[in-house]
Amino acid sequence: MPKDVILIAAVTIDGLIARHHREVTTWSKDLPLFKEQTLGFHVIMGSNTHDTLSAELEDRHTIVVHRNDDPESILDAIPGDRCYIIGGGKTYARFAPFLTHLYITPHPLIFGKGVPLFDGGVPDLELVFQQMVSVDEKGGIFQYQYKVKKS
Ligand SMILES: NC(=O)c1ccc[n+]([C@@H]2O[C@H](COP(=O)([O-])OP(=O)(O)OC[C@H]3O[C@@H](n4cnc5c(N)ncnc54)[C@H](OP(=O)(O)O)[C@@H]3O)[C@@H](O)[C@H]2O)c1
Repeated sequence: MPKDVILIAAVTIDGLIARHHREVTTWSKDLPLFKEQTLGFHVIMGSNTHDTLSAELEDRHTIVVHRNDDPESILDAIPGDRCYIIGGGKTYARFAPFLTHLYITPHPLIFGKGVPLFDGGVPDLELVFQQMVSVDEKGGIFQYQYKVKKS
């Protein structure tokens, strides 16, 4: 399993990642940063998220997971030190027990209803702030990087 298993997500102020399960994400301002950070690495996504993409992600090793896949076995098969869990909500929840870091970019939006960051049960995790990366300083959009505290 890679040393670093990183959840990366754009979220609204009410903790949602999409208005519905098939939303094409057009509101996120962090796509250039997302590309820079994930380039060359394995990225894991759920089938709903894959269905929303208009094209495959360039220069990344994409793994699309389905309900019968075992998250731990998928991670164990990934070579290298780092991989990213890129959504959506069901996939973030399924991989939550294995996360070492979370890169979260809150956006100044409220959807009211939609897909939560974790769509499913997750363990109780304590996070340690590591650094903040500017996405759109004037718009007040920053990516917050956290490390999962080992229990
Ligand atoms: N804001 C962001 O940063 C961000 C990032 C990524 C995605 N998104 C958004 O998130 C949304 C998709 O999220 P999502 O949670 O719907 O889907 P998802 O995590 O992308 O894909 C659904 C996953 O859950 C599995 N699944 C479905 N029903 C299940 C069940 N009953 N038990 C266990 N597993 C089950 C699916 O497997 P099967 O293939 O077998 O059905 C698939 O692996 C889209 O709108 C997308 O745009 C936002």
